[in-house]
Amino acid sequence: MTTPLNITLCLSQTKPEPWEAGLKAALPGATVRNWTPGEPPADYAVVWAPPQAFLDEQPKLKALFNIGAGVDALMKLRLPLGCQVVRLDDAGMSVQMAEYVCHAVIRHFREFDGYEADVQAGKWSYRKPRLRADYPVGVMGLGVLGERVARALTVFDFPVHGWSRTPKQIEGVQGHSGAEGFDAFLTSCRVLVNLLPLTPDTADILNRRTLSLLQPGAYFINVARGAHLVEEDLLALLASGHMAGATLDVFRTEPLPEGHPFWTHPKVTVTPHTSARTLRDESIAQIAGKMLAMMRGETVAGLVDPARGY
Ligand code: NAP
Ligand code: GLV
Repeated sequence: MTTPLNITLCLSQTKPEPWEAGLKAALPGATVRNWTPGEPPADYAVVWAPPQAFLDEQPKLKALFNIGAGVDALMKLRLPLGCQVVRLDDAGMSVQMAEYVCHAVIRHFREFDGYEADVQAGKWSYRKPRLRADYPVGVMGLGVLGERVARALTVFDFPVHGWSRTPKQIEGVQGHSGAEGFDAFLTSCRVLVNLLPLTPDTADILNRRTLSLLQPGAYFINVARGAHLVEEDLLALLASGHMAGATLDVFRTEPLPEGHPFWTHPKVTVTPHTSARTLRDESIAQIAGKMLAMMRGETVAGLVDPARGY
């Protein structure tokens, strides 16, 4: 007789009941419990930003399944010895990210905010069409989400550049890689999209020096993590006119604090960390499938390399 699979859930800012029910339905016979302190240790955990106290009670964990793509909150913690970390691998996020980024790029390029303001003022007025060649777009991070976004942008005929740690070949995308390729990547772009994971190598990577390398009148879209950006440096470059504007979905402190200058900045669009949401049904199906695959001794997509931090 095989021992039943023992799964614990520890989900901050997320209602656990539908996850518990969904995992039970996807893995008949498994024990699935929402963690409360003092419970017997489990084999697998499904988590979002768990406290250290949770991990300290889980010495037997074989794997932690993160219900998001970014594992930065998890990688700051002391993990049980030998425990693998598995992140969401798309699960419906890449199409959302492509929608969000293409919308932001096109809204800026076609000056839709300006037209909206004109219409509000009862004005029927035209703006001179902009040239796509003057708006090369750069995507930082060409992983599961970045590659989908870069490909989606090529459909609108923007010149597209991409930057990753290791070289990538994506049709229609001019690739740059490594620290040595970073400055040339930035100087090639006027619109910059950040889709990097947050690691010790990428924290504060968008700052006065790096944003200044973008072409004048630059536009920045941050859909990765707030800690990639030195916020006061972006504010200074918006004030100087080097940056034309930004769409920001993520912030150093979330929710964005009351009174933060981004809330009311005329050149900044704020959204509440919503560019690619975790879709529960797709995620449960993916996590359950990976648990079964790992139990059969197979490797799964989305395994985090602790040395790289993503
Ligand atoms: P991924 O598949 O792991 O891709 C990461 C990409 O970043 C890879 O191309 C990787 O290069 C590159 N990279 C990592 N470190 C680098 C460095 N030091 N220099 C240059 N390139 C580097 O991750 P993903 O699934 O696309 O997700 C990306 C991030 O999006 C997540 O970590 C998360 O923070 C964020 N996210 C945000 C939201 C939201 O709603 N705002 C939703 C989901 C995810 P290699 O290909 O060479 O390894
Ligand atoms: C959301 O930010 C995620 O990492 O999935």
